[in-house]
Amino acid sequence: MQARENWGSRMGFIMAAAGSAVGLGNIWRFPYMAGENGGSAFILIYLAFVFVIGLSVMTAEFAVGRKTSLAAVGAFKSVNPSWTFAGVLGVVSAFFIMGFYPVVGGWALAYVLKSVTGLLADAGAIGDSFGAFITSPAEPLIWMIIFLLMNIVIVAKGISGGIEKAGKVLMPTLFALLILIAVRSITLPGAGAGLAFLFTPDFSQVTGQTVLAALGQAFFSLSLGMGCMITYGSYLSKDEKLPNNALIVTTLDTGVALLAGIAIFPALFAFGMEPAAGPGLVFVVVPTIFAQMGGFGTILSVLFFVALTVAALTSSVSLMEVVVSYLIDQRQMERKKAVYTTGAIMTVTGILSSLSLGIMSGVTFLGVGVFDFFDILTDKIFLAIGGMLIAIFVGWVMNKEDLQDELTNGGTIEFGLFNVWYNLVKYVIPVAVAFVAVAGIISIAQTGLMIFGLAVIVLLAVFSKKLG
Ligand code: PHE
Repeated sequence: MQARENWGSRMGFIMAAAGSAVGLGNIWRFPYMAGENGGSAFILIYLAFVFVIGLSVMTAEFAVGRKTSLAAVGAFKSVNPSWTFAGVLGVVSAFFIMGFYPVVGGWALAYVLKSVTGLLADAGAIGDSFGAFITSPAEPLIWMIIFLLMNIVIVAKGISGGIEKAGKVLMPTLFALLILIAVRSITLPGAGAGLAFLFTPDFSQVTGQTVLAALGQAFFSLSLGMGCMITYGSYLSKDEKLPNNALIVTTLDTGVALLAGIAIFPALFAFGMEPAAGPGLVFVVVPTIFAQMGGFGTILSVLFFVALTVAALTSSVSLMEVVVSYLIDQRQMERKKAVYTTGAIMTVTGILSSLSLGIMSGVTFLGVGVFDFFDILTDKIFLAIGGMLIAIFVGWVMNKEDLQDELTNGGTIEFGLFNVWYNLVKYVIPVAVAFVAVAGIISIAQTGLMIFGLAVIVLLAVFSKKLG
């Protein structure tokens, strides 16, 4: 991809990798997942997964990408063609995530405009108007398509200075706004219940599903388990310190998620709302806080949703790029053609996904609507299994000396924890992920969907050598 030439600087890479990681997963998804899964116990398990499993897998993905200098599919294939399927599974995951991600990106975009056209006028009606908006047949589709067009323009040109520059200004803006909202939120009367919900763990509520949800969220939020960080790693210069970069990206990503939680839950409890509100959470709670601030609130609300849109865009661009780079590298397609083809198909899946929340809500496949189909398959199966595959690949297929060489830049820098990392990746992570996946998957309601997801992976593995 064209960005290959652009990431000469360290800052550029960190911005790009953090741009991919920080997205709707942190601000939209993390709070509602925590809300639906009992709060603090979920968060603690999530943090453990992020820093033990996520950080190690990210380091592994960077190492594989930089070592092979190839995007996901090519990276696996070049080491061992029987593993091509692991890269292809990543392409499928990217494609599926893009089945619902632009829908939510479109909501964020729509809320920029809605912030100035009366959304904040009646705080009590914000919840109802969100419900009416996402279920209406045309309005969300238009916003979703605009959001996708932005992706198409950026990816068609390669990742331009524009998006990087926007990111450099808007990501810190988002951060500052989240801090501001968090401060407002925890100083509201009755906010204590929200903090207790976030920070007093009650492990009696934890089930196999909670643990699987935390693992899926960790992979999703860090953009792991689907080759995205392999692809980004392949553009890294040979003198970058991979473990340090992985630690910075992981810490930034986790910081934003926690901040989003601290911004939302105290206010939510103060306003007497439901923590298990699902996907509407951020779109209802945050505007409700702003509605109480008068004209100043309108400005903050616009800024917040602009920043949320940018965060979503820097992530969706990386998702689209995984599919596009596959078509370019392995299918010899020209970039523009690859982008337009991918964009056209994603428009169709996005439309179906958006409509499945409204007029098509009765249409289900294997027990779920289109939006949930894409969301559940990636979150509960593909990313976790993808992360496990990369760990097995690095631990058992790649050569240990090569990895040590890659992670120490040919022995020129220290990576004191190499052996700890290596043993985690080789032994602990495959077993831990398998355990969580089995415990979570067997307790899942949509059996047919789970069997379908596992069947996809098995089929890809069987035909691995024919793929790519
Ligand atoms: N990490 C992104 C987010 O949190 C989503 C994403 C997942 C992006 C996988 C790329 C790859 O919103």
